[in-house]
Parts: sequence; structure tokens; C-alpha cells
Amino acid sequence: MSNNDLTNVILAAGKGTRLKSSLAKVLHRAGGRTLVEHIVRACEPLKGRETVVVVGHQAEQVAAIVEPLEAVTVLQHPQNGTGHAMLVAKRSLGRAKLAVVLPGDAPLVRAETLKALITAHRNGNAAATILSAVLADPSGYGRVVRKSETAVSAIVEESQLTDEQRDINEINSAIYCFTLEKLWPALAHVKPNNKHRELYLTDAIAALSAKGETVLAQVAADSREVLGCNTRADLADVDRIFREWKRNALMDAGVTIQLPETVLIDPDVTVGEDTIIEPTVQLLGKTKIGARCTIRTGSVLTDAILGDEVTVEAHCVVAESRLDDGVIIGPFARLRPNNHLKAGARIGNFVELKKSTIGEGAKAMHLSYLGDAKIGTKSNIGAGTITCNYDGFNKYPTSIGNKVFIGSDTALVAPVRVGDGAYIAAGSTITENVPADGLGIARGRQVNKPGWAAKKRRELSTLEKPKSVSKRSKRKPRRASKKRKR
Ligand code: UD1
Ligand code: MG
Repeated sequence: MSNNDLTNVILAAGKGTRLKSSLAKVLHRAGGRTLVEHIVRACEPLKGRETVVVVGHQAEQVAAIVEPLEAVTVLQHPQNGTGHAMLVAKRSLGRAKLAVVLPGDAPLVRAETLKALITAHRNGNAAATILSAVLADPSGYGRVVRKSETAVSAIVEESQLTDEQRDINEINSAIYCFTLEKLWPALAHVKPNNKHRELYLTDAIAALSAKGETVLAQVAADSREVLGCNTRADLADVDRIFREWKRNALMDAGVTIQLPETVLIDPDVTVGEDTIIEPTVQLLGKTKIGARCTIRTGSVLTDAILGDEVTVEAHCVVAESRLDDGVIIGPFARLRPNNHLKAGARIGNFVELKKSTIGEGAKAMHLSYLGDAKIGTKSNIGAGTITCNYDGFNKYPTSIGNKVFIGSDTALVAPVRVGDGAYIAAGSTITENVPADGLGIARGRQVNKPGWAAKKRRELSTLEKPKSVSKRSKRKPRRASKKRKR
């Protein structure tokens, strides 16, 4: 489809009073992206001349999102309604003949639906074509009033509905295709005849129809696509639908998702075939998961890259880290940013990693902190080992070679190096480098004192004598009571 006569206009200047938020409405997120970003992306496949975004509230933040997506912005100040927003956009529309106009708060619309809208508009030679939807509960939306089966006479806003019109369940999505040379004169006739004293773009529809222009309404096949986000409840509904679509796409591509409604997956996440995702998992950001992995319940992965056959046991938190093929982590592992776990490495429960490389087949199975550390191939990090990588001012590296055995409860005071094949005795505080194949031992020597404990107990029992006296005095009355029975 060639659309070089068409420009997209996104109206995104409003505050969103009904959200009760200090953040402009279009900056709120659903389905893992800001609302406005979803809409700019939906316009991209239309291949129009450009996408113009009308900005107002928190204009700079909105521009910072849409400009990298190659949209241009135009400032509406003050915000005098959707019709006024369109007039503000006029100067940026250049030689475009058609405009697809979208609100900044209906992010579920898909490019295919917009393409069908444009086709209907062109085929019908219309002045305006409205994307409408039939909703079981139309409340809150403007209603489409038809004068015949095909032609529309007006859009009536909720606040201005007559009792009869209130029963109309065909709603205005606020997504339209306009022939611009017809829109501008109609918009010039629109007056701010409403309680907000705003110019409504919807009123241009009645003006066009009154002039005898063709106004069509195309009913969206999936009514969920037009849902607007005016309240927090709307945001939650829209988020739920985005998440469902994403999970369904992954399941169609061969991913098993258990209790799918409990799993949250961001739009850019990819997952390979035969991977199993257990309930309540969150896969966020640009996380990429290979094939045949298992992500167990309660784990949250953000910008993580997993190879094939990786197991993330229950309740792990992973951020910005790479886990190569066959790695197993958790349960209850925490990977802060910038770790690289090489093939077959294992990280167990209550182990925290930061900016560390764990060599192939290396293990740290219990209760450790490894920060700024490099662990070689097949090394074993004992329970309770920690890298002391911070002196209050700077961070220092710890380097552990291949096939090293670090005994439990070792403190490695960085910067420090342990050579290949070395042993560290349990309970050591290592402050100096340990040579390859050597033993590092740094702890107080054990002293055994034979008989010490028994002697101590004897001493203590003599001190306790007064207590035993009181026990005897308790027994006497018992004997006396037996005599009484006889
Ligand atoms: C609008 C429609 C309504 C439709 C509904 C669908 C109007 C008057 N009403 O109502 O018929 O059923 O969408 O979701 O259009 N905006 C600006 N500048 C302004 C005012 C608004 O850019 O001066 C932007 C907002 O940021 C928002 C969009 O226009 O993205 C729509 O405004 P909103 O207040 O959400 O309109 P609704 O009441 O939802
Ligand atoms: Mg709205």
C-alpha cells in the first residue's frame, strides 16, 4: 500500500486528569511501553509521509520518547481540546491529502486495523472515516449516531447524550481517517459548546455530515483494540490485553506457559522453543531466552540473555546478565547487572553476584557474595564465601583461577588473586595472593584443652547448690500427703 499522500497525527498533549497523576497520561505504561510509544509504533507500517505528535503536558518527556522513533512533535499550548490540537498540527502536515488521527491513549490499535481503515476511506471516497467499535458497556465514550446503515451523522460525547442516544453501543475510538481539504473548513465551524469550553474534533463529524460530505464508520473486528486509557482501571485492562497477546504469540511459537494469566512478559522479550515458564514469572526488558530452558515460579528476569537448556530455579532475580548453555541458578539467587555465567556453571541458593564471570562448570552453591570477581573453569566456591570488594571508597577485583577450591566461609579481601589449582582453607581471610597449586590458610590455630569442659561443669554445679536445696524441700510435702492417704 502506498501512503505517500498520508500523514499520521497523534494527539498527545492532554494531562489525563482522570488518572490523578503527576505524570502526563501518554507517559503512563501498559504492556511494557508508554502509551504514546505503542501508538507511534502502530503507525510505522503505514509508511505515511511522517508521524506528527501533538505534545503539551510534559512535552519534553513525550518528545524524548517519540523523536527517537522518527516522529516529529508540535506544541499545543494551552490545550483547548482535540479539535484545537488538530488545528495546531495543521502547519506540520505539509502536502498531505489524508491524515490518520489517533488519540495518545488508545494503545492497542494494530497497524492492520489502521490499514483497513485507510482502505475503507479511500474506497468510499469519504471526507471522514471513523474507526468505531461495538461495546457491551459503551459508557465513557462518544457514541456514533448513524443516519443510515452506512453513513454517520454525528459523534455525541457522553456528557451530551440524550436518553435515546445513551443506548447506542457503537462508540467512537477517536481514531479517524480524514481528507484534509474537507476537514479544515468543517473544523472552522466548530464552536466550544461544551462544559469544558474546548474545541472537540468529534464536532467536525456533524459539521461534515451537515454539509453533505460522506462520513463513514468502520467497525473494528476486535473491539478491544480501541480501548482508551482514561483511568487507572482502563490502564490495567489494557495492560492485561497486551500481556495476553504477548503470551499467546509465544505459545504459538512453541513456548509452554503454565497458568499464563499469572505471567508478565514485556514486548521485546524472545523465548525459544520448548522452554517452560512456570506461574508468576516476569520476563522484562530485552530478555532473550534460548530453547529448552526452564524458568521456575516467582523468578524475575530483566534484560537477561539465556542460552539453551538453562534452568532458573524458583524465586531468582536476574538483571542484565548472560547465562550460557546449561547454566543452573537458584532457588533464591540474585544476579545484579553485568555477570557472565559460562556453560554449565551453577549458582545455588542465597548467592548474590555482581559484575562477575563464573567459568565453565564452576560452582557457588550456597550463601555467597561474589562482586567484581572472575572465577575460572571448574572452580568450587564454598558456602559463605564472600569477596570483600569495597573499602568504602573504591571497588577492587578478585581473580580466581581454574580448578580452585575455596573452603567455606572464606573472605577474599580484594584486590587479590588465587592461582590455578590452589586450595583455600575454610574460614580463611585471604589478604594476599595465593600461588597456583598452593594452600592459602589464614585463620587462628585451633587449641584443644583436654578435660576443660568437664572441669568447668563441676565448678558450675557447686555454684548451683542453693537450687538443689529448694528441690528437696518441695519433695517433703509429697511424702507427707501419702501418709495422710493411709
Ligand atoms: C475522546 C473522544 C471520544 C472517544 C474517546 C475514545 C473527543 C472530544 N472525544 O474522548 O468521542 O470516544 O476519545 O477514547 O475527542 N488531547 C490533546 N489536546 C487537547 C485535548 C486532548 O492532545 O487539548 C489528546 C489527549 O492527550 C488524548 C486524546 O487527545 O490522548 C483524547 O483526549 P481524551 O481527553 O482522552 O478524550 P476522551 O474523553 O477519551
Ligand atoms: Mg481518552
